[in-house]
Amino acid sequence: MSNVDLNARIPNNVSLGDDARLLRALEHWQPSFLRWWMEMGPCGFQQHDVFLRTAVSVDVQGWAQFDYVKMPDYRWGIFLAAPVAGRRIGFGDQCGQPVWQTVPGEHRNALRRLIVTQADTEPASVEQQRMLGDSAPSLYDLRNLFQVNVEEGRHLWAMAYLLHSHFGRDGREEAEALLERRSGNADKPRILDAFNTPIESWLDFFMFTMFTDRDGKYQLRALAESGFDPLSRTCRFMLTEEAHHLFVGQTGIERIVRRTAELMRQDPNEDARALGGIDLDTIQRYLNRWYALSLDLFGGEISSNAATYFASGLKGRDREERYRDHVALEDHYDIPVFGDGRTGTEQVPLRNALNEVLRDAYTLDCQRAVERWNSVLAEQGVTQQLRLPAKQFCRQVGIYAGQHFDLDGAALTLEEWHKQANEWLPTGADQRYLASLQKPVREPGKIANWIAPPAHGVKGKAFEFEYVRLS
Ligand SMILES: [Fe+2]
Ligand SMILES: [Fe+2]
Repeated sequence: MSNVDLNARIPNNVSLGDDARLLRALEHWQPSFLRWWMEMGPCGFQQHDVFLRTAVSVDVQGWAQFDYVKMPDYRWGIFLAAPVAGRRIGFGDQCGQPVWQTVPGEHRNALRRLIVTQADTEPASVEQQRMLGDSAPSLYDLRNLFQVNVEEGRHLWAMAYLLHSHFGRDGREEAEALLERRSGNADKPRILDAFNTPIESWLDFFMFTMFTDRDGKYQLRALAESGFDPLSRTCRFMLTEEAHHLFVGQTGIERIVRRTAELMRQDPNEDARALGGIDLDTIQRYLNRWYALSLDLFGGEISSNAATYFASGLKGRDREERYRDHVALEDHYDIPVFGDGRTGTEQVPLRNALNEVLRDAYTLDCQRAVERWNSVLAEQGVTQQLRLPAKQFCRQVGIYAGQHFDLDGAALTLEEWHKQANEWLPTGADQRYLASLQKPVREPGKIANWIAPPAHGVKGKAFEFEYVRLS
């Protein structure tokens, strides 16, 4: 794209220099952002050179640069995907109308709410992950953690730009508030629950980037369909970066599973823990927790908000073009329900079930990753397998909240639940065990005992490359 300005104080492809007021507002927000980064970003390592990817354009052929950067010097920029000429709203009551370049007054509150909710997750995850640097299993993993962190910082920039440029004074206040809330803080928590849950171990981190960042992928895909074109273009480019975060999660778990299988084969009782690995039961318990927490992020199964967002052209479905009917007024969707001790299904008008439609697309995606991990286990001759729990398991949001189900979705009494919850969810003993494993490994080419090295390094570099210069 021709209008990329990389030398500006805030690198951008949105001609920021042409709008003095907006530029001033964002230049005012920048030091607040940096203060937040130093206070709530990665603990330590801020003065070390890290081999990082930086977005420098939205050109598919080469949108990023890789080089050593000190994190506070990272060039957080504002990049929107190229506009699509003649783009029209692709769904809902105004399907076929031209997209909006400014916020329609009647949708202002709803759009602001959608943007703020997405925006809040970006700094939240950085805060949740801030203590992990000290216990990274290799320099490669340390670098990946910081890569994810700086890019979540850039996503915050992307959202703050939308708030500043399209929502006036309210938007500026919302952008400030994004830097004031704190993950897990009782007085000013982040908006969504999964983003207030501590990420204490690297197993949590990989589960988070696998399952919770993947919720982000589906939310961004749904918002990329938006009739509000600047939001659509912002989300489309964020998805490009997000793919790496999902890769870090999925392959991180795959590498743990691979190492676990190796250790199981070496131990006479197939006990990976006896040899300092992470046993599959523990991996399953962490998977159960993060999957359930992430399912909650999609919201209630039956949602009039989702219906309104869709009707007004604000938030569509995952890759709306795959559907034949973009108005979705007539169809219904089956939702498993539970009442009086019995399970069944309920037909819900499709527009009211769109959270569930998005959640089901997400589940299929997660299922593919689990199959990949299971094929690693099978290759290694291990018969035990991992699985996704049923969608009813351990939910805090929607129709299953406050009730108890096993991994297959069968209803339990509270007493039955308490008898088995320790088998299904991480325990204090699991946490202590993982904490005992987390000794940092900081020599290039070396790796902790509980995880296998990656198949490839970053950007054609070997695993042995010095991804973070610690000396
Ligand atoms: Fe993000
Ligand atoms: Fe992410």
